[in-house]
Amino acid sequence: MSQQSSKFDERYRIGRKLVAELGPADQANTTFELLGKEWDLVPGAYAPAPGTGTEYYTTAIPYPVGGRFLEIGCGAGVTAVWAALQGCAHVTATDITETAVASTALNVKRHGVEEQVRVQRSDVFADLDPGEKFDTIFWNCSVIEAPRDFEFTQDFEWAIFDRGYTALSRYLAEVHGWLRPGGRALVTFNSLGDLDRINQLAAAAGTVLTRLDSTTRRLAGEDVTYNVFEIARA
Ligand SMILES: C[S@@+](CC[C@H](N)C(=O)[O-])C[C@H]1O[C@@H](n2cnc3c(N)ncnc32)[C@H](O)[C@@H]1O
Repeated sequence: MSQQSSKFDERYRIGRKLVAELGPADQANTTFELLGKEWDLVPGAYAPAPGTGTEYYTTAIPYPVGGRFLEIGCGAGVTAVWAALQGCAHVTATDITETAVASTALNVKRHGVEEQVRVQRSDVFADLDPGEKFDTIFWNCSVIEAPRDFEFTQDFEWAIFDRGYTALSRYLAEVHGWLRPGGRALVTFNSLGDLDRINQLAAAAGTVLTRLDSTTRRLAGEDVTYNVFEIARA
């Protein structure tokens, strides 16, 4: 077995472990706590536990106060709600899974930010209105590469796996087309994913990544370094 494929297998094994440990076993719970607030969760959606990137990224990223913020892959909606509470004038929160979209809608209501936040289903940018532009676009993406023929059997798995990093590749290639002049494109990536590959994918998309911030925390028995990257045109 080549070193490259054994690393792929090891990352994939950790991804499966995360699904087992963070996954829907506890889905009888329809609320969770994070960042000192209570959040709703539709069964089947990804609940960001303490120690996952959500907690750190939500307080670490630069928000466009008074401007327009787009979150791809909003999950339960913690970051999107936070963006509105930080003073973004308009937030669009999207996810590929209906359980995430429904959870975010509940949390937008729970935290009283309906005027600022619009929630919709979208596969990366594919379902957005083509005329829309944003000041900041952010994705806390799914970092474990799954085989291209991987079949998603539960919504939660979308928060962990990306088949052949195809969704991430599309994000990197398309994100600048959705920005207002001077806007900022952000993506997260952590050490459970393949950092060499994200840099290769960024280069293939004609972009370059600059690390804005990082931290290391313990998650499911692993030390995980979480990174926030800005995506610039090369
Ligand atoms: C790591 S989770 C982050 C969730 C949430 N933003 C958070 O921080 O808790 C990645 C999110 O991206 C979503 N996702 C995965 N593939 C996607 C795609 N092709 N288009 C849109 N969202 C996607 C997943 O459903 C999941 O909610």
